[in-house]
Amino acid sequence: MDLKDHIRGIPDFPKPGILFYDISTLLREADAWQVAMGRMARAVRAYMPDLVAGMESRGFLVAAPLALKLGCGFIMIRKRGKLPGDTIGYNYALEYGEDRVEIQADAVQPGQRVVVVDDLLATGGTMAAGIALLRQVGAVVPAAATLIELAALNGRAKLDVPCEALVTYA
Ligand code: PRP
Ligand code: MG
Repeated sequence: MDLKDHIRGIPDFPKPGILFYDISTLLREADAWQVAMGRMARAVRAYMPDLVAGMESRGFLVAAPLALKLGCGFIMIRKRGKLPGDTIGYNYALEYGEDRVEIQADAVQPGQRVVVVDDLLATGGTMAAGIALLRQVGAVVPAAATLIELAALNGRAKLDVPCEALVTYA
């Protein structure tokens, strides 16, 4: 199955000139979604994760079912101010301005292997921030994984771990 047949490109969203890859059509087709998550599980299992971390918000859609398939725990890397209790944050630069992701300070036991998961790798800023944050709480990050990679933006150059991608657009 070609997963690209189940992902649609919507031009000029959220801004003119941007082609938005919409995974809604993949998520709502049970067979295609099963295939996608099966492939994701096969790719990620090799890294022997103890936990799967999802990047809010669309990363949660991929990471939580992946964790269930692998028999791993699932942890959340969230946008600022969403997590209760003690948190640790990481600020990273955007094209204009700055963003921040946070994790609960006790989300990971030191030395646990955590694969970080998102729906899409574009510039790589989000995934790189997730990796940095996980390391701050003591995780070993053997890999990253994404449904979609936008290769032209060369996001994987920002990552110092291998990145599994199910679908790549030039
Ligand atoms: C999108 C996408 C990735 C990120 C990729 O998230 O879901 O998380 O951008 O971009 P990057 O590689 O350039 O960092 P978005 O911030 O749109 O939010 P959402 O997941 O909450 O919809
Ligand atoms: Mg996102």
